[in-house]
Amino acid sequence: MARYEFPKGFWWGSATSATQIEGATGKKGKNIWDYWYEKEPYRFFDGVGPQVTSDFYNRYKEDIKLMKEIGHNTFRFSISWSRLILDGDGKVDQDAVRFYNNVIDELLSRGIEPFVNLYHFDMPLQMQKKGGWESREVVDAYVRYAKICFELFGDRVKRWITHNEPIVPVEGGYLYDFHYPNVVDFKRAIQVAFNTMLSHAKAVEAFRNAGIKNGKIGIILNLTPSYPRSDNPADLKAAEIADLFFNKSFLDPAVKGEYPKKLVDLLREHNLLPQAKDGDLELIKKNKIDFLGVNYYQPRRVKAKSCMPHPDAPIMPEHFFDYYEMPGRKMNPYRGWEIYEKGIYDIMVNLKQNYGNIECYVSENGMGVQDEERFLKDGMIQDDYRIDFIKEHLKWLHKAIQEGCNVKGYHVWTFMDNWSWINAYKNRYGLVAVDLKTQKRTLKKSAYWMKSVAEQNGFED
Ligand code: BG6
Repeated sequence: MARYEFPKGFWWGSATSATQIEGATGKKGKNIWDYWYEKEPYRFFDGVGPQVTSDFYNRYKEDIKLMKEIGHNTFRFSISWSRLILDGDGKVDQDAVRFYNNVIDELLSRGIEPFVNLYHFDMPLQMQKKGGWESREVVDAYVRYAKICFELFGDRVKRWITHNEPIVPVEGGYLYDFHYPNVVDFKRAIQVAFNTMLSHAKAVEAFRNAGIKNGKIGIILNLTPSYPRSDNPADLKAAEIADLFFNKSFLDPAVKGEYPKKLVDLLREHNLLPQAKDGDLELIKKNKIDFLGVNYYQPRRVKAKSCMPHPDAPIMPEHFFDYYEMPGRKMNPYRGWEIYEKGIYDIMVNLKQNYGNIECYVSENGMGVQDEERFLKDGMIQDDYRIDFIKEHLKWLHKAIQEGCNVKGYHVWTFMDNWSWINAYKNRYGLVAVDLKTQKRTLKKSAYWMKSVAEQNGFED
């Protein structure tokens, strides 16, 4: 048996987002999810939309009590932009202010530090109508919203996050058709990515000006390492390009304040560079983050292309590489994602070696499983597979910390079963089960396991 002890004060907790748990109850402006569901409910698993989700809006007290019971000392949630400011750019809604104040106060009263994220895939509909992240006007509206949040909650919230996985709305909304507005256009996708990064840098600048005492600001990125099929130079090149597109495109400007030259050259060569204004790059350079959240679920395996793309097909990132299914890989069949625990270690070592060992934490890691009632025994879901998943990742994280990586905590995705965008409630990720008919919460076996890990600041295995 080995003992895996984590550094003193390690953050144990979980993460979630507004649209996935709150429910669209109370006074709330529509966001793109409310709208898309109204328009195309058949795009969502079993036709389940975002109206009710896990009803956190009404049950936050009970939920926060449970978080405490299972040993959380930190919890990340997001503010819904379209709840706080119904149309995204107008009046601040006082009911929403009360709600978020209550959530923050309730967490603090139970000794759980709130980490607050400003944007988790949920563009207010009125802002999308103005062009979403393609529009500079929307970038400015986001910065105004960020400032309002710092003013309203900055006296108590000390850990701020500008965006969660900003590349996902780029992929989902502008390349691969799994978020509204369902555009397929690489050039527009790159503009969206650039403007999102700009909104991030402007929010960091606003944060510095807000002078929040002891406050820190960061961004959360899904750093999916790109592993080449082989050492063949063609495979290595394919992996390097995938890494530029999907990791360095946000990681480098956020941490180093600049885009990698190789990425800029590649985009220029293919006439894909976004439009920027004078001063944009300086702004990004000046406003680097204090800490980084790392979401990790799966690796990205790539190989050199085997066929030329069809000349009529739109140019896509896959113009430069093919995906590679490694024989023998371990899979989560429900989500269709490979499980590769060592990836979490490789990410941390990369941050240590190439990104100044920036302060970071695992901001999401977890396993979504379909039909979990199968595992119900003695009134509890016996999710040993989830315990194994978390444990094996934690072992690699522990090794990274032993080797000097600056990792401050680990957040599970997620506290309770929640609404997973177009997958709705297909795959359950929670430490706590939610009965969708009654909204009853029941701890799963993994919740008890996480509690003991948090209490002992580690585990034996
Ligand atoms: C992350 C997101 O990508 O993964 C979450 O930040 C999401 O919002 C989670 O729910 C799990 O992915 P999915 O697609 O199964 O919900």
